[in-house]
Amino acid sequence: MTSHPLAYAARAARFRPSGVRSVFDIAMRPGMISLAGGSPDLSVLPREQVAELAAGMIRGAGPDALQYQPAQGLDGTIEAIREVMRAEGVDAAHDRIQVTAGSQMGLQVLTTLLADPGDTVIAEAPTYVGALSVFGGLEARVAQVEIDEHGMLPDALEATIARVRATGSRIPFLYTVPTFGNPSGASMSAARREAVVELCRREGILIVEDNPYGMLAFDDEHRLPLYARDPENVVYLGSFSKIFSPGVRVGWLAAPPELRGRVQLAVEAMTIHASVVGQVLAQRFITETDWRGHVRRSADVYHARRDALMAALDEHMPPGTTWTRPHGGFFTVVTLPPGTPVDGLLDAAIDARVVYVPGSEFMADGSRADTLRLAYSFEPEHRLAEGARRLGEAIRALG
Ligand SMILES: Cc1ncc(COP(=O)(O)O)c(C=O)c1O
Repeated sequence: MTSHPLAYAARAARFRPSGVRSVFDIAMRPGMISLAGGSPDLSVLPREQVAELAAGMIRGAGPDALQYQPAQGLDGTIEAIREVMRAEGVDAAHDRIQVTAGSQMGLQVLTTLLADPGDTVIAEAPTYVGALSVFGGLEARVAQVEIDEHGMLPDALEATIARVRATGSRIPFLYTVPTFGNPSGASMSAARREAVVELCRREGILIVEDNPYGMLAFDDEHRLPLYARDPENVVYLGSFSKIFSPGVRVGWLAAPPELRGRVQLAVEAMTIHASVVGQVLAQRFITETDWRGHVRRSADVYHARRDALMAALDEHMPPGTTWTRPHGGFFTVVTLPPGTPVDGLLDAAIDARVVYVPGSEFMADGSRADTLRLAYSFEPEHRLAEGARRLGEAIRALG
């Protein structure tokens, strides 16, 4: 048998191993404490009940759960999604919703439909690494806008729009995680939400709002999604991954009907439709369990873990270190004091058996090497505390 070197398309080089994936593998090593991956803790799930749902699905729905189904998504799943969205204060009509294989796929489809090579997507600085992979893979550029603890700065957004337009590059959309951002943990205030929605409407820039963490709040503040403020100019990406299970790979998007129809055509080309087994399971989780209670209990667990991690950072980080204090979600970003040596820090941390994701992963230009994303979603409190201790030791050892 002869073997020829494969002639890859030029774009193949744009799919590089992500730092997040490689630390994910490291996180599996025995004795390692993982502050890296954004995995939900599934121990809070009513496991027996979910097992019953899964068995009943095959016994009850039988062939329907195992057959090809409509590309938009199952009617029942769409109705379950509408219920979840109503809990966030959003009433989205049935024909605006498209079920996808996770919200990651929703973003892939939207970017395929809306961004040509050389266009510039605007996003937060820092932003979700998986979104950067999508934009890079589809040859879009990324301009990142400064944020603070209240989210994106409208003035900085306005300046970025002007700067990008001055280069002649088109802006297909603004991508934002406005609630409990990944990695920042920051949430846009109500005033910022209004300002950003208004600015984008005025500038004719579509907003893509990615909201997998919105229901996992640690307080009673209601953070109304941008979509509810302007459903004609905002596309909403939702997901069952953080409120039920990432393994079912079911997410959705809500968009104006014309765009939603285009998305359906692209979904058909890419996957025909999202997994029906996953859709039925997610639907039954919403209609047949106390899903709101589950989400509340999950948020309580993450809240206690945030507190444990923050307390441990207080105790173990070198003076001058700062970090964000999220009011929900999974992540905080730690900024090391100026002058702290960062070369070799990840290796030193791994040697000390703790792993995190370097902040540079969340910047298109690889900057912010002095920052670290820490996830508190997965490890129990005592291990978060020990992880922070090991991390503090690794930082000191390098200094
Ligand atoms: C901001 C953000 N968007 C999208 C995703 C991917 O979600 P899904 O599992 O629904 O594809 C994640 C997962 O970590 C995320 O943090």
